[in-house]
Amino acid sequence: MSALLRLDDLHRSYGSTVAVDGLSLEVASGEVLGLLGPNGAGKSTTIGMIAGLLRPDRGAVVIDGRGGPEDPEIRRLLGLAPQSLALYDELTARENLKLFAELYDLRGSGGRERVQELLVAVGLDTRADDRVAAFSGGMKRRLNLAVALLHRPRLLLLDEPTVGVDPQSRSSIIELIRTIAGGGTTVVYSTHYMEEAQRICDRVAIVDHGKLLDIDTVDSLIDRHGGKPILRTIKGGEETRLRTDDPVRELTALFAAGGLESVRIDRPDLEAVFLALTGRTLRDV
Ligand SMILES: Nc1ncnc2c1ncn2[C@@H]1O[C@H](COP(=O)(O)OP(=O)(O)O)[C@@H](O)[C@H]1O
Ligand SMILES: [Mg+2]
Repeated sequence: MSALLRLDDLHRSYGSTVAVDGLSLEVASGEVLGLLGPNGAGKSTTIGMIAGLLRPDRGAVVIDGRGGPEDPEIRRLLGLAPQSLALYDELTARENLKLFAELYDLRGSGGRERVQELLVAVGLDTRADDRVAAFSGGMKRRLNLAVALLHRPRLLLLDEPTVGVDPQSRSSIIELIRTIAGGGTTVVYSTHYMEEAQRICDRVAIVDHGKLLDIDTVDSLIDRHGGKPILRTIKGGEETRLRTDDPVRELTALFAAGGLESVRIDRPDLEAVFLALTGRTLRDV
């Protein structure tokens, strides 16, 4: 595996608050890596250090085996959609994209075409000439993503790209990210929504209190930390829950006894993994 991104023992504090506490990981070229953790876990600080907006107190960010984001050549490989939207409210969607296109030296007809292509890709072409101030949260998020894509980055950094959006925008953002990843772009995707991490990511890094607790494919994380499936049955109006490695055998016995009204098998999910690793659920932190 050739690592497009390597984080090597990253540390960063704000005063006495330790935000990132010795984080090391590698992201392969073409991979979609999720950073999954609750609010305050250190995700935005990590992404800020990868993007070169924040300096690590200690440790290094190495991109494409070459160097850190302080090098302008390397910074050009990165696209960032920050958690706090980086858009001009008083400009239209198209004007925002044109402005950033100029910053990236994408001028002239090539730039115009790229802007139009992205407006279509994020489903804003019919609203391109409306001011961003009038946009819903979902539309702003989609435009924020389009800005990050303008210069066709090799490494796309997405910091909670679906926060504050309606379910429809959320689905379209997720589909778009899958398409981008399908085209070979490497993606680092931070979220506190485990369903999204499960849907999008090749591997997930579970972070809490600035530390990496584990990193693996969703299936392996669940296999290793998720516990046994739960067999939920209803009989005589009463629900029974049974944790079992072998729900089929249990069910066979239950069917033989008769009288079952309802059966469901719940596979453990990343929520169970987080609970096993931290003793807390993602939802209540
Ligand atoms: N600019 C800042 N000044 C002081 N503390 C900060 C600042 N940014 C983040 N923090 C603190 O650092 C920790 C990690 O924050 P952050 O990286 O934003 O986490 P996440 O993105 O996972 O929610 C939190 O305790 C947060 O309160
Ligand atoms: Mg954050």
